[in-house]
Amino acid sequence: MAKKGPDVTLDLFDLEVYRAGRAVFGMGDDAECAYLIREGEVEIVNTISVPPRKLATLGAGEIFGEMALIDGQTRSAAAVALTDLTVTIIPRPGFEMLLYELDPGVRALMTCLVKRLREAAAKD
Ligand code: CMP
Repeated sequence: MAKKGPDVTLDLFDLEVYRAGRAVFGMGDDAECAYLIREGEVEIVNTISVPPRKLATLGAGEIFGEMALIDGQTRSAAAVALTDLTVTIIPRPGFEMLLYELDPGVRALMTCLVKRLREAAAKD
């Protein structure tokens, strides 16, 4: 069966390295890419809460920074390298190609889940 849309090979994208303690991005920043963790850990932090609230620690093989690309809003939380961190940068156009390959119903479901995650985070 013919495959829909172009192929995306993540290995073609650029790698970036962040030293432990460096911010990858801040909460509320504009977003132009998502990140696939190759090595190390990143902490996801709500920096608007007082005191700042840790939402998750993510490690190798996990993706972050996808929510703002899915719903077109700004970063829902900050991302800070917990250890030295190596990530593959997935630029917005590459990420949109990945989304394009999905069924429209699945895309709608993802947007709905991101909306609910933002709403849940705002209530905590
Ligand atoms: P984005 O909103 O683009 O930028 C912040 C990222 O942190 C977000 O995408 C997700 O990848 C991640 N993130 C936000 N909230 C959570 C959470 N509750 N648990 C795990 N990861 C999160």
